[in-house]
Amino acid sequence: MAGFPLVARAEKRPAALAVQERKSPLHILVTGGCGFIGSHVAVHLREQGHQVSVMDNLVRRGSEQNIALLTRHGISFFHGDVRNPEDLSNLPTRVELICDTSAQPSVVTGYANPLFDITNNGLGAIHILEYARGRRLSMTFWSSSRVYGADRLNSLPRREAPARLEYDADAWQQLADSQRPAGFDPIHGVAEDFSIDGGQRSIYGLSKLIADAACQEYAHAYDLPIVVNRFGVISGQGQFGHADQGWLVWWAVAHWFQLPLTYLGWRGKQVRDILFVEDMLELLDRQVQNIARFRGEVFNLGGGRENSVSLREATQTMQEISSRSTQIKEEEKPRQGDIGLYWTDNRKATRELGWQPRTDLRSGITRIFEWIRKNEAELRGRYLPGA
Ligand SMILES: NC(=O)c1ccc[n+]([C@@H]2O[C@H](COP(=O)([O-])OP(=O)(O)OC[C@H]3O[C@@H](n4cnc5c(N)ncnc54)[C@H](O)[C@@H]3O)[C@@H](O)[C@H]2O)c1
Repeated sequence: MAGFPLVARAEKRPAALAVQERKSPLHILVTGGCGFIGSHVAVHLREQGHQVSVMDNLVRRGSEQNIALLTRHGISFFHGDVRNPEDLSNLPTRVELICDTSAQPSVVTGYANPLFDITNNGLGAIHILEYARGRRLSMTFWSSSRVYGADRLNSLPRREAPARLEYDADAWQQLADSQRPAGFDPIHGVAEDFSIDGGQRSIYGLSKLIADAACQEYAHAYDLPIVVNRFGVISGQGQFGHADQGWLVWWAVAHWFQLPLTYLGWRGKQVRDILFVEDMLELLDRQVQNIARFRGEVFNLGGGRENSVSLREATQTMQEISSRSTQIKEEEKPRQGDIGLYWTDNRKATRELGWQPRTDLRSGITRIFEWIRKNEAELRGRYLPGA
């Protein structure tokens, strides 16, 4: 089998950060801190010298395995549920900043039980905001690009290239100004001021929109330092992806263990931009250092056009990196509320925070395969139980 070529990181230097207000350690609470993103956030912030506590109800299968990792890093773990306000108010720890990464994160799961998503992701976030309001805490919130309607996104001009869908710049040029939606252009993608109106954002998207809007409202109404980050796809080592959520890692795992895959709709040409978790952490540092200046500020954050990839292209890249392939079926019908093409316009974050993603797609996927190879036995048990 071929090795794992370490492709050099794209060294794009972000512009200098305009304001760096705070470098002293903070007491930080990470809600959902046993999950994929939350555990990376907690460990990273601890490594930056902050005092970090985690609250999680361990509802995500496998999240309990991160408790040992957190403890090893000197992070306190508290079992608690953001649906219960008392679990927050009874926390025996000092908190100055909350990083809220708790949620049911799957679009597919959300349709099965709307009230659960709305309560868990929507009302849960409002409980956190209430906790923050009473104590005048700062907060960073993990929102989602799914707050934008799928119908609206799917109606943006696009064309079919051999292996992917692409925004159609020619068709865009021909539109009158009045026909061009704000917050979009075919080169840079979808920006913060793209309309959140329009149906079919998914039940998950609705639950995130409730929380996203509440964060903005509380920030303004109660003058709280809160920042709302609308992420596209975040991926990286330590993510236990599956077909319904965390698709890039799922795709890689399926290649590694030669599990069958399916292109659901668009013949595998649907495109997403991938943000690797290391780049997300760099962004978080910049926001934490400047947290006092935010009042409900919204950022769209993702891998951007350069890190956009279709399922077909991901298949090709993964075959090259792992020297393994697997069977892939095609189903014509896309999943409910699915989006054919999305990439993020990151320019606001670059302008205001001097941030842009640095991990290119090939390096990021290579690292995911390194992680799979290193943890092969555990992953085999998880993905091929009984094999
Ligand atoms: N992964 C992505 O690509 C992505 C993209 C955009 C936004 N997000 C958002 O980022 C956050 C983290 O996502 P993730 O991929 O790490 O998911 P994850 O499922 O790995 O982590 C979520 C964590 O929250 C915990 N949790 C869920 N409900 C809870 C509750 N009621 N009380 C306490 N803890 C609870 C779970 O046990 C889990 O540990 C979510 O808010 C998600 O909506 C993720």
